[in-house]
Amino acid sequence: MNISQNNRVLSGMRPTGLLHLGHYHGVLKNWIELQHSYECFYFVADWHALTTHYENPSIIAESSRDMVIDWLAAGVNPGNSTIFVQSRIPEHAELHTLLSMITPLGWLLRVPSYKDQQEKIKDRDLATYGFLGYPLLQSADILIYKAGFVPVGEDQVAHVELTREVARRFNHFYGKEADFEQKVEAAIKKMGKKNARLYNDVRKRFQEQGESEALSIGKAMLESQQNISLNDRDRLLGHLEGGGRIILPEPQSLLSVSPKMPGLDGQKMSKTYNNTVTLRDPPEVIEKKIRTMPTDPARVRRTDPGDPEKCPVWDLHQVYTSETTRAQLAEGCKTASIGCLDCKQHIIDAIIDELKPIQQRMQDYLNDLSGVDSIINEGCEAARDVAQDTIEEVRKVMGLPG
Ligand code: TRP
Ligand code: SF4
Repeated sequence: MNISQNNRVLSGMRPTGLLHLGHYHGVLKNWIELQHSYECFYFVADWHALTTHYENPSIIAESSRDMVIDWLAAGVNPGNSTIFVQSRIPEHAELHTLLSMITPLGWLLRVPSYKDQQEKIKDRDLATYGFLGYPLLQSADILIYKAGFVPVGEDQVAHVELTREVARRFNHFYGKEADFEQKVEAAIKKMGKKNARLYNDVRKRFQEQGESEALSIGKAMLESQQNISLNDRDRLLGHLEGGGRIILPEPQSLLSVSPKMPGLDGQKMSKTYNNTVTLRDPPEVIEKKIRTMPTDPARVRRTDPGDPEKCPVWDLHQVYTSETTRAQLAEGCKTASIGCLDCKQHIIDAIIDELKPIQQRMQDYLNDLSGVDSIINEGCEAARDVAQDTIEEVRKVMGLPG
C-alpha cells in the first residue's frame, strides 16, 4: 500500500433522477469536504442503476450528465477530483468477473440489501444475477482503484465489509509468490539493522500475542520507509499480518455523520416518497412545496395553538434555523402568536439562499455542455489509466495473458 493509494477516496452515485436536498446534505457536502484531504474519485454508477432500472433504462442516460452538472455546481472540483462514468471503464466489469470466481455465493446471499430491497421494491423483479452481484460490482469499483476510503451511508457499510473480505481472499490466493520468503528477507535487510529488528519484533508480537498496537507500529514504520520499493512494502505489509503480498488493499468506510434529511412529509427525503426539493427547483416551486407542507394536524385554524414536535416543518428547522430563532418560533407556534406561513417562510428563504449560488453555477454549466463533456472525458481517461494498471496486475497473478 503506498501513501497515495491509501489516501484515495472513491464513491459513486446511481443516476436515477434529479438530485435533491437529501443528496446534497447527506452525500455531496461530504464529498466536497473530503476533497481537501484526499485524492478523490467520484463516478456515475450507471451499471448499478441498470441492476434495478433494466426495464426502463432511459432515465439513466437522461440523468447521468445532469448528475455530474449538479455535482460540479454543488462544489465538486474537477481540478482536484477525478469525475467519471463507470460504464466507460470496462476494467470494472473485468475485475467484477474475476472476483466472482473467488466469491462464495453465501457471501452475496447474506448481504442484507439483497433481501431488503427485494421486499421493499415490489414493482420490479430483482431476483436477477445482476442484482445479486450488485455489492460485488461495487467491490470491483473500489478495488480497481485500490481506494483506501469509501464515503458511504449506513446502508452501504455491508458492501464495504464484503469488499474487505473479497480483497483478503484475493490476496490470500494470489499474493503468494514462489520466492516470497526470499524477497521478504531481502526487503527486511534493506531497511537497515535497527528497523529490521523493530520489524521482526512487532511482527512477532502481533502474530503470537495478537497485539494490534504492534501491528499499527509496524504499518506506520513500513509507510515511512524510504529505501524499499513499493512492491517490497506491499510484501512486508502482507508478511507482517501473516499473509502474502497485498495486491488489493482493504478499504475502510467513512460513515457520513450528517443526520437524515427530512422530506416534505416528515419521512426521510427520497424520490420514492415523492417528498423532495430538487437542486433544480426554482424559487417559486420551492415556495409552493414548503407552503403546502402538512403541519401539526391539530392546528386547523390560525388561532389554534400547535406543537412543533408533531410538525414535519419543525424537522426542517433543525437543518436550517438557528437555535435562538427556533426557540422564538416554538413559542409562537404553541401560543398561536405566529401562523404556519410565517413559520415556513424561514425555511423557504433558507432553501432559496442555499440553492441560489448552486443554481447559478448550474446554469453556467448548462450553457456549456461541451465543457462538461470534456471534464467527464478527461476524468474517464485518468480513471482508466489507474484501472488498467490494476487489472494488468490482477491478470498476471491469476495466470491470464496480459
Ligand atoms: N451502491 C452505491 C449507492 O447506492 C453506489 C455505488 C456504486 C458506490 N459503486 C460504489 C458507492 C462504490 C461507493 C463505492 O449509493
Ligand atoms: Fe409547524 Fe411552524 Fe405551524 Fe407550528 S407554526 S405547526 S411548527 S409550521
